[in-house]
Amino acid sequence: MITKGIILLGGKGKRLKPLTNYLSKHLLPVYNKPMFCYSLSTLIYANIKEILIICNEKDLEIYKKILIPISKKHNIKFLFEIQKNPTGGIAECLKIGSNLIKSCERFVLILGDNFFFGRDFPKILLKAINKKKSSVFLSSVNNPKNFGIAKFDKKNKLIKIIEKPTSIIGNLAVTGLYVYNSKSISHLKSIKRSKRGELEITSFNNALIKKNSLDYINLGFGITWFDLGTFSNLYECSEFVKLQESRKGIQISKIM
Ligand code: DAU
Repeated sequence: MITKGIILLGGKGKRLKPLTNYLSKHLLPVYNKPMFCYSLSTLIYANIKEILIICNEKDLEIYKKILIPISKKHNIKFLFEIQKNPTGGIAECLKIGSNLIKSCERFVLILGDNFFFGRDFPKILLKAINKKKSSVFLSSVNNPKNFGIAKFDKKNKLIKIIEKPTSIIGNLAVTGLYVYNSKSISHLKSIKRSKRGELEITSFNNALIKKNSLDYINLGFGITWFDLGTFSNLYECSEFVKLQESRKGIQISKIM
């Protein structure tokens, strides 16, 4: 099965200002490497050999430069596209990546500010890639108002995802990692921009739920997940990487 990857390195990094005034959020250090190395390593460990980078125009040259040695070291072909409107929405990037998507059967989309770690994580991801249906990955959070949150019926069937719910409907967040059957992009046509002007990935996922084409995988306690879009998560994740690397003598996401 041909599986390709898309990593999103755009956006405005508003919650990390002033650090992001001049530097792409995904280049900020998380302990001993740039943030994007963690999400990129997720695709590399899944043995994906063709990866589309979607970023802002101003950052294109720097990413091209940084990725040359990574491309050689891991035998990966990188493709590049620009997202003209940095906050056009995550689902807008599926439109931007449509040529790559049409050329494969499955694709893995990952947000460049997401961090995953756990012994069984590559196995879980590979299992999802081998399924016919598309999959989202859930993780429990203590601040559900900041995420897309999964809503279930009494039989634990996923019935809807609510983006940044204003009241508490649950605490299982949809993480920024998505495995899609490439045929699913036909459903992009049916989604509309949200009030904040974005083509939301949650609207796309809800369209798949309606067609009974979306599975979910609860990552549980064995997998650690961080969304690195805030100062405290940036700090806590750096501590986490430091702790793992210094106590266990391992290297996390050492792809450079
Ligand atoms: O991290 C998980 C969450 O990510 C999910 O629970 C939400 O459902 C999903 O909407 C998303 O929410 P965020 O508020 O964290 O998204 P944010 O705007 O911070 O963007 C996440 C990443 O995607 C970030 O690395 C920048 C990139 N991005 C985002 C947008 C909106 C782009 O490259 N282009 C975009 O247009």
